[in-house]
Amino acid sequence: MHPMLNIAVRAARNAGKVIIRSFEQLDKVEVEAKGTNDFVTNVDKAAEQAIIETLRKSYPEHTIIAEESGLSQGSDDDYQWIIDPLDGTTNFVKGIPHFAVSIALKVKGKLDQAVIFDPIRGELFTASRGKGAQLNSMRIRVKAHKELSGTIIATGFPFKQKQHSAAYMAMFSSLFAKSSDLRRAGCAALDLAYVAAGRADGFFEIGLKPWDTAAGELLVIEAGGLVTDFVGGHNHATSGNIVASSTRLQKEILKTIRPHLGEALSK
Ligand code: IPD
Ligand code: CA
Ligand code: CA
Repeated sequence: MHPMLNIAVRAARNAGKVIIRSFEQLDKVEVEAKGTNDFVTNVDKAAEQAIIETLRKSYPEHTIIAEESGLSQGSDDDYQWIIDPLDGTTNFVKGIPHFAVSIALKVKGKLDQAVIFDPIRGELFTASRGKGAQLNSMRIRVKAHKELSGTIIATGFPFKQKQHSAAYMAMFSSLFAKSSDLRRAGCAALDLAYVAAGRADGFFEIGLKPWDTAAGELLVIEAGGLVTDFVGGHNHATSGNIVASSTRLQKEILKTIRPHLGEALSK
């Protein structure tokens, strides 16, 4: 395993311990609203600190971009860690056991290492640039569907940006008509990891943040899949509008959602 991936795995497992300990005593968790339908808990913050401490011990000079504490500029900006300490906070707060720790490393602007850790199931998804993707050390690959018929498409609802509801519902309806079914499980990092592992055949969501998608993007690519914005371009890290699936199915998904995008989502 790449030494930086090894440290990222250690950091993710440390955060997982913090999260699981608190999940067993949910009544003690302190919840705070940080935006519309957007919550943060003391556990998100503690898990993030555990990750940062672990990374800093080995790489004090690297830059860190973390969801809760923001940017901490390092002396070596070629290395940037992108962290979501707890993806699926709403599930966590409600006692729904489906959430993950997500850590990615970019080297000179390119995704290089990725870890997504599901502490409930003990599932560790990892990827290194050019070296493939793994689940608990076993190679994973996206499912190579050619058409939407027979597929399961994961998604997230635009609950923080309800101005996109109508467009989203139209995209949903068109995909629902052609696929087997859709899933809204509440953790974008695991949605992407599941596409990489062939458990879901595709994924789309509006307005995600870099920490929601960075690790998952490398996992999907290393598992042989594609990640784009809603018009097939590479603006998804900026727009947060993301589609992921196999190369063939990606075309079908993009074709199906295109009529509903309007100007606001055509990026
Ligand atoms: C959220 C989850 C959810 C997605 C949201 C994200 P958080 O992340 O990934 O599935 O629909 O858009 O913000 O806030 O739990 O880290
Ligand atoms: Ca997130
Ligand atoms: Ca989070």
